[in-house]
Amino acid sequence: MRKRILAANWKMNGSKAMLKPFFDQFFKIIDMSSLSSPQHKLYFGMPYLYLEGARSYILNGKITLSAQNCHWAESGAFTGEISPVMLQDFGINTVIIGHSERRQFFNETEETLDKKLHILKKLNMQVIYCIGESLEQKEAKETLKVLQMQLKTLFTALPNKSDLERVVLAYEPIWAIGTGLAATPEQAQEVHRFIRGTIAEAYDIDSAEKISLLYGGSSNASNIVSLLVQPDIDGFLVGGAALKPEEFGRMWRDLSQTP
Ligand code: PGA
Repeated sequence: MRKRILAANWKMNGSKAMLKPFFDQFFKIIDMSSLSSPQHKLYFGMPYLYLEGARSYILNGKITLSAQNCHWAESGAFTGEISPVMLQDFGINTVIIGHSERRQFFNETEETLDKKLHILKKLNMQVIYCIGESLEQKEAKETLKVLQMQLKTLFTALPNKSDLERVVLAYEPIWAIGTGLAATPEQAQEVHRFIRGTIAEAYDIDSAEKISLLYGGSSNASNIVSLLVQPDIDGFLVGGAALKPEEFGRMWRDLSQTP
């Protein structure tokens, strides 16, 4: 059975002072034994600077910390960048890549993603790979074409089915991110089914059945249950709601109680 995953994406939010009150409150809301479930996984994608401070709250690895980006080289003259080797040096083995905000504001392209996928594969790191269409692309009925193109980068960089075991996919329609306008459960399900079908074609049915597909874009404690009942939605990548410990705790409660 594939894993259910709730992944926080704090983006460029938070502070050192926020970590303790956030986790104290979050742990108060949830059933702590749910963090030991092998079928349900909780991730926190933190700004680089807070990863080390957040380590005090991961309960011997029951919670996974993730970076929100990395460079494609192991080291070198890349002023201001963080390499995946440095992340590993700090015990971080998971990275979100391809987020639409990085594509939009930081010139993340299929070419740079290809390089990042290669280095992350080489280092045996886990990838949360984000894909999604803009409002203009949706209105031009180009959603599936855009997703196919973004998926091709993943398939080309990681051609072996065994490589896919380290990948979690997040479908994040850009028009739903931070807007309060989440995709409807039917809309999200239709796209997730398409993504799973595309993976089955590129690899095989077994790989498509095993990979966890997350939905992202204005997911919150009010809409998560209706999205969770969709057969191809396995979890969520959460921005705004993941900064609120009570709300995010309620989301984890719902997800961790869903088989
Ligand atoms: P949101 O962000 O939940 O605030 O819409 C999701 C994301 O960008 O990962």
